[in-house]
Amino acid sequence: MNFKLTEEQKAMQKMVRDFVENEVEPFVGKMENGEFPTSLLQKMGELGLMGIPIPTCFGGAGKDFISYIIAIHEISKISAALGVILSVHTSVGTLPIFMFGTEEQKEKYLKKLATGKSLAAFCLTEANAGSDVAKMATRAMRKETCYEITGAKQFITNGGEANTYIVFAKTNQSKGNRGISAFIVDKETDGFSFGHDEQKMGLHGSRTVQLLFDEAKVPLENLLGNEGDGFKMAMSVLDGGRIGIAAQALGIAEAALHVATNFLKKRSTESQRPIEQGLAFKLADMATKVKAAELLVYQAAYLKGNGLSCGKQAAIAKLFASKTAMENATEAVQLLGDEGYTDKFPAERFFRDAKVCEIYEGTSEIQRIVISKHLLKS
Ligand code: CAA
Repeated sequence: MNFKLTEEQKAMQKMVRDFVENEVEPFVGKMENGEFPTSLLQKMGELGLMGIPIPTCFGGAGKDFISYIIAIHEISKISAALGVILSVHTSVGTLPIFMFGTEEQKEKYLKKLATGKSLAAFCLTEANAGSDVAKMATRAMRKETCYEITGAKQFITNGGEANTYIVFAKTNQSKGNRGISAFIVDKETDGFSFGHDEQKMGLHGSRTVQLLFDEAKVPLENLLGNEGDGFKMAMSVLDGGRIGIAAQALGIAEAALHVATNFLKKRSTESQRPIEQGLAFKLADMATKVKAAELLVYQAAYLKGNGLSCGKQAAIAKLFASKTAMENATEAVQLLGDEGYTDKFPAERFFRDAKVCEIYEGTSEIQRIVISKHLLKS
């Protein structure tokens, strides 16, 4: 694995840094007040950021997976909310159509998604089926001209804002996870509506919504892949999705380190006293964990981008990076003292945003299950 970024990857990093500084940073306050960043997503579409790893023939930027991870990493240093919107849209919303879709599905959906004209969501979780996917109750009945989907999905990122939903439902009740199928569902589908809009601890600029399906009529041609393949498809796209969330967590962890470092340096200059060793050592520990997380995230991205098996590394990267985000954000609040507990500094926002990285796209406990299964299998 080469640790140096290519010229193309460096260009992506610079472009995203400029975009974040000029466009995202001024918008953070609005997102904190609950505004969904529609105008930012439109600009990201114009910059080619909404379909980074999708080939140009389908409207994407045709860049490698590492370039995509660079974008999430850079965006999440300033706005983890925008980071997750992009990650869910791309890794688990758009890539499944690229990976498993028919030519007609790619033609109809991919171009709009990859250019940012449409936004995507991934709809697996239910109130009683979060970690244990096979327990899902949503079902899809095959009729003459359509599938009728009935049930509810919970905690869906981009819900309500997205135009295209990758929805998992059981087409066969007796087959456990082998009875799950995947569908592409349009926002305007008859029988499909939105329920509770979650009020979250953090990520205020992203939306998390319940989806309701009441005999929602989805055309037969919107089945993604084959009937019964939904579980495996979900697991394989989640491998890539988890690298995206790990990159988001890395961005938060790094941003927390920067805030704490700048705060202590400024205080030291103003008071003309050196930073106490105990505090400086805390910065050293935070920086060490950021570096380790960065190597894990980019190693997993390298594997995924080269078509190599990445499930174990993706889970390791997500487990470690999300733990680091939480630890560094907690430490940043503590190092800033009273100021850290106020909204004068972003440390408290990082603290609120970091926690969910240990929960969504598979909790830390699920990552340990995935990692240990790989270890015991090999
Ligand atoms: N790729 C392809 N196939 C895979 C796979 C992968 N990564 N992982 C497992 N499979 C296959 C297995 O090979 C196996 O195939 P066979 O039956 O042919 O042997 C089959 O799938 C079943 O595998 P397991 O026995 O390992 O499955 P399990 O029932 O024990 O479940 C689990 C494993 C790790 C617990 C899994 O259920 C899981 O990851 N759960 C968490 C779900 C999750 O991450 N949810 C988050 C939702 S997304 C989100 O958060 C929303 C958002 O908007 C951000």
